[in-house]
Amino acid sequence: MSRIIKPTIITMLFLVGFGCNTTKTPSHNKGISKSNSPFDAKIDSLMNLMTLQEKIGQTVMYSGDLTVTGPVVSNNNQKYVKEGAVGAMLNVFSAKATRDLQKIAVEDTRLGIPLLFGYDVIHGFKTIFPINLGLAASWDLEDIKKGSRIAAQEASAEGIHWTFAPMVDISRDPRWGRISESAGEDVYLASKIGKAYVEGFQGDDLSKHNTILATAKHFVGYGAAQAGREYHTVNMGQDELWNVYLPPFKATVDAGVETFMTAFNELNGVPATGNKYIFRNILKDKWNFKGFVVTDYFATNELVMHGYAKDRKEATKLAMEAGVDQDMMSNANHEYLEELVNEGQVDIELINDACRRILLTKYKLGLFDDPYRYSDKQREKEVIYKPEFLEAARQSAAMASVLLKNDDTSLPLNKTQTIALIGPLVKDKENIIGNWAAEGDRKGKAISIHQGIQEYLEDSKIVFAKGCDIEGNDESGFNAAIQAAKTADKVVMILGENYKMSGEAASRSSIKLPGSQTNLIKAIRKAVPNKKIVLVIMNGRPLDLSEEDILADAILETWFPGTSGGYGVADVLFGAYNPSAKLPVTFPRTIGQIPIYYNMKRAGRPNHNDNPNERYSSNYIDVRNSPLYAFGHGLSYTNYEYSDITLSSTTISFSDTLSVSATITNTGDYDGYEVVQLYIHDKVGSLTRPVKELKGFKKVFIKKGETITVNFDLTVEDLKYYNADLKFGVEPGEFQIAIKGTSDFDFKHSFKLE
Ligand code: BGC
Repeated sequence: MSRIIKPTIITMLFLVGFGCNTTKTPSHNKGISKSNSPFDAKIDSLMNLMTLQEKIGQTVMYSGDLTVTGPVVSNNNQKYVKEGAVGAMLNVFSAKATRDLQKIAVEDTRLGIPLLFGYDVIHGFKTIFPINLGLAASWDLEDIKKGSRIAAQEASAEGIHWTFAPMVDISRDPRWGRISESAGEDVYLASKIGKAYVEGFQGDDLSKHNTILATAKHFVGYGAAQAGREYHTVNMGQDELWNVYLPPFKATVDAGVETFMTAFNELNGVPATGNKYIFRNILKDKWNFKGFVVTDYFATNELVMHGYAKDRKEATKLAMEAGVDQDMMSNANHEYLEELVNEGQVDIELINDACRRILLTKYKLGLFDDPYRYSDKQREKEVIYKPEFLEAARQSAAMASVLLKNDDTSLPLNKTQTIALIGPLVKDKENIIGNWAAEGDRKGKAISIHQGIQEYLEDSKIVFAKGCDIEGNDESGFNAAIQAAKTADKVVMILGENYKMSGEAASRSSIKLPGSQTNLIKAIRKAVPNKKIVLVIMNGRPLDLSEEDILADAILETWFPGTSGGYGVADVLFGAYNPSAKLPVTFPRTIGQIPIYYNMKRAGRPNHNDNPNERYSSNYIDVRNSPLYAFGHGLSYTNYEYSDITLSSTTISFSDTLSVSATITNTGDYDGYEVVQLYIHDKVGSLTRPVKELKGFKKVFIKKGETITVNFDLTVEDLKYYNADLKFGVEPGEFQIAIKGTSDFDFKHSFKLE
């Protein structure tokens, strides 16, 4: 590509979109504007009646004690609700509990403004779906939408109006426990998935009693915490912020998300909860977001701990000025806002704006028509754990399971063989629903993998041995496990993490299987060198499976598969569902490669052919650069052969659409779904471009023996990025392009944009 870029075209193209060209601190009231909603007149007349204290009350959220999701601070909920000093509650659920508290707000306060009830409905409410990283592995947007619709139906019947999901933080560090709650490492995939969650939770009409407000969280950068350590510092340049971390949030705004949550971390020296640049300048001004922003739990107070505010009063002022509308659990707005306004330190217009935004959601939900419409005992009885919800969770579990390896067709299992089922997670019901599992049952309702397998195999064909615990060094169960392996035709080991090892406040400095589990598989391998060992893993993050990859013949990654997980995983193990999932995140060979993701930059001295011995190239001397399993990787019981791609043209103009297609043939013995992925590489840019970028995907069904053509249309819009001036646009030049079933390939085709 020529470096001489025609200025007129470039200027024009980079001006398209929503580029922001300033990093200077905006004025504190940027982004204040009315919503232009049909409820404006009602909100105006209500706000005319409200005192300053009542307006501040709307900006306050406290926690009930049905669940604990952060530091416990003593507060006097009922008293405050009665005083009209609370706008929202979290961690209160069930038709009865929400109705009782709502009654106080509605009947005992001067204006009777209903409360909002928020809760972490992350991957299900009672019926738990696979953890979010697993759901992302399905690459199935319809299924993700369906699952969040089900979660909304269950949660809303228990009085919940609002979920603190989806988390759309790009997550590229497996040490970070919250990677489990994410859609993984890729901007394009995470943006599509964020949109699907919002559409599922909020439905097509918020005034319906079974739709709930969604929250895009945590704005912004949380996933880039240094060293993968929870709540830690984030420093990133504008390229990474605008091209990687912001786009999934923008996608949720475009999808109509009603609320945003602040992140715990600081971003380039300014803690998110006090960060005007991200909330006022980007979210409320540039993106014109009309919903409201809630802090993360206790985060206003944490501005003091960060060393950004001298005390809680100053923190309250900074958060309000930053564009944060509601204070979750800091008790800061309640304590200081009135004083700050009276002293002239906080502009009352900021409080009016926050109050207006919060009231708007209550109108949209229909709470002023009927504040109890969500707290419905009858509906609660009817919808919780509906059989079709449990069946949907089973299908999601199957769709989420990634077949990482399958030598000599070790899978699927055969119903005639005897299977040794070994490992601490075989009969587990406690961990299988994963972290952030809302009100999911960790006992009776959850289906263990053992139960799932029992649907396919008679008990006489199952030999069970636990072998060891998830953690700890006790190897006294190894002998029994070895005996079990010796008596069976095949070995299936169910190993992994416990659910508390991922999620919030669960960063790990090692990403290996914990405890003695790797020793267990080594012992079994040694005892039965010629038997097939199938490893089924449950975990909340990419693990370093380098040793297991050598020891096991097949590996099935099931994440934490949810309430019906045992059934869904067994469906895959026995071939009733032909695996179709693909990794939404890279699995490293070793922790030393982190951060490792498929669309890294190339560097000035790229390493060739994954060769650790190439001196003076960007590599390690002790490990290859490539991962153990690449982003987009996932096997099937059949084989898909991809033809070379066909391009509608090798040169396109700025107004053209490029049509690109590939034929794919199912050459194996099973029908199946394949996730077909479209990648590009912008060869030269005014900011260097990633070596690969996902720009489209389609999940297609291909019958055995069948050949289909999969087509993608690519426009200039798909090639845009934020340049150094933070203008969103595209530059002419050469782009490489490919259609594949994984990100692990070399480009062979290209086109030019002129
Ligand atoms: C988490 C949020 C969550 C909130 C409320 C915080 O600790 O970071 O993601 O929504 O608690 O439970």
